[in-house]
Amino acid sequence: MAGPIMSKSKHQNISIAYLVYALLIGRYIATQPKGDWSFFSWHPFLMICGFMGAMGIAAATKKKGGYTNTKYHGYLSSAGFVLACAGMYIIYRNKDLHERPHFTSTHAWMGIATMVCAFLPAVFGVVFLHPDFGMDKTNKTYRFAHKWCSRTAIVGAYVTGYWGLAKMTQDPLVLATYALPLMVLTPFTLL
Ligand code: HEM
Repeated sequence: MAGPIMSKSKHQNISIAYLVYALLIGRYIATQPKGDWSFFSWHPFLMICGFMGAMGIAAATKKKGGYTNTKYHGYLSSAGFVLACAGMYIIYRNKDLHERPHFTSTHAWMGIATMVCAFLPAVFGVVFLHPDFGMDKTNKTYRFAHKWCSRTAIVGAYVTGYWGLAKMTQDPLVLATYALPLMVLTPFTLL
């Protein structure tokens, strides 16, 4: 049930767009609302680099098809998950430093659900679908589950991030700068 193959130039443009989004818009979002970088800023920045940057490029890379691209897809999405784990560590540590209780908001619980949703396809991908040693790499059900769980995680991260950002600012320009590029890029990568 593979989708349409993505051309090399389209993949290049989409990858650049995700990279620019993660680094520039990620930094802009991370320094809201006052424009200053703090220890907290690493949380949104790393979450954006992980879910929007690395995993966005990883999803586009899978669409190029083939053995090598499938392996790059795995490396990139794993790197994205590691970045997201680092972002989680930062926010957990930041709360400890400020002696504030953990996991008290809707954003926090959406974030936990999203992380679980990202972890499952990563593990199942390595064990069952890896092109070299996956135990059942052509199994259509596993491939379907991997694809949809990953899509849910990525879209979940977009919504979770919006929720977190809306706690920090209600400025429509900032919210639109976060959301609009993702709405434009998502159909190219996730559909
Ligand atoms: C634009 C990106 C993001 C922004 C601006 C942001 C903002 C925030 C803020 C302000 C907090 C502290 C208040 C609270 O606990 O709700 C927080 C905590 C948290 N965020 Fe985010 N966040 C972003 C992305 C994400 C993503 C993508 C996830 C997970 C996939 C996530 C998971 C969490 C979790 C689990 C906490 C609670 C940590 C704890 O209570 O120890 N965040 N975030």
